Amino acid sequence: MRMRSDPIKLREEFKQHLSESEQELLGVNLPAGSEHYRAYVGPPFNYDINGALQFQFMLNLGLREYHRFLEVGCGSLRLGRLIMMYLLPSRYYGVEPNRKILLDGIENNLGSSIDGNDLIYLKQPKFDHNSQFDFSFVGGKVDFVIAQSIASHTGVKETRRLLESIVSVMHEDSIAMITYIRCDDSRSNEKDGWFYPECVSYSDSFIANEAAACGVYAYRTFWPLLNKRPDGLITTQTPLILTFKQWKPTLAQISSGISIDSI
Ligand SMILES: C[S@@+](CC[C@H](N)C(=O)[O-])C[C@H]1O[C@@H](n2cnc3c(N)ncnc32)[C@H](O)[C@@H]1O
Repeated sequence: MRMRSDPIKLREEFKQHLSESEQELLGVNLPAGSEHYRAYVGPPFNYDINGALQFQFMLNLGLREYHRFLEVGCGSLRLGRLIMMYLLPSRYYGVEPNRKILLDGIENNLGSSIDGNDLIYLKQPKFDHNSQFDFSFVGGKVDFVIAQSIASHTGVKETRRLLESIVSVMHEDSIAMITYIRCDDSRSNEKDGWFYPECVSYSDSFIANEAAACGVYAYRTFWPLLNKRPDGLITTQTPLILTFKQWKPTLAQISSGISIDSI
């Protein structure tokens, strides 16, 4: 049986554990996309576990503290706050055009402002605010890239640019993970632009063709089992792995829920 996400159930369950003022502070009742550091990047009631799921995914892929890591559309650091803590200094790169959301994320997740923050000072992340998928600020190649819930909002041209740019910062052993919302060919988005907070969906064949045009292998994978909760999925987006070399999940990855379907 296919599991679905039940946002209302998830939100009500979450609210039971919070005071009224916490609910307000965490924007729990706001719709995704609202101008609030949590709600802007998705349902505010699964901010914690969505970030944790992404983090687990990257760990399962083999992320170590010495790796150089690029997050495309890092938002309010839903994932970034966990990854940054894990990585050695000067290894985390985040692109986020919405500077205010990033600064609010830093303030609310890590405390204090970007200049006065101890974790930022210690970990020396590098941020850029361009919306052209220009990753030149990274200054070379990275070992891992994540673009979670970005291709669920990019039109055709922008998705192409996203993939090309990701590939441009990959070396031969890099692993990139992007998520997309799957659909059949007849419903695959054909428009250009940035759609937000609306979503667009793409067929496997569209994504496979775009990846092939960039010269990388594409593997449709699955989230770790953490995604499957009794009250619904944390995310219904599909994670896709991009590599220059053929890629096979390790036993540890398979047993924690990562498996592949070629697309
Ligand atoms: C759905 S949110 C996901 C944020 C983050 N990846 C996460 O999972 O928490 C999409 C993010 O992409 C950012 N964004 C919009 N246009 C972008 C662009 N051209 N390049 C990079 N990020 C972009 C938005 O500002 C927003 O923070």
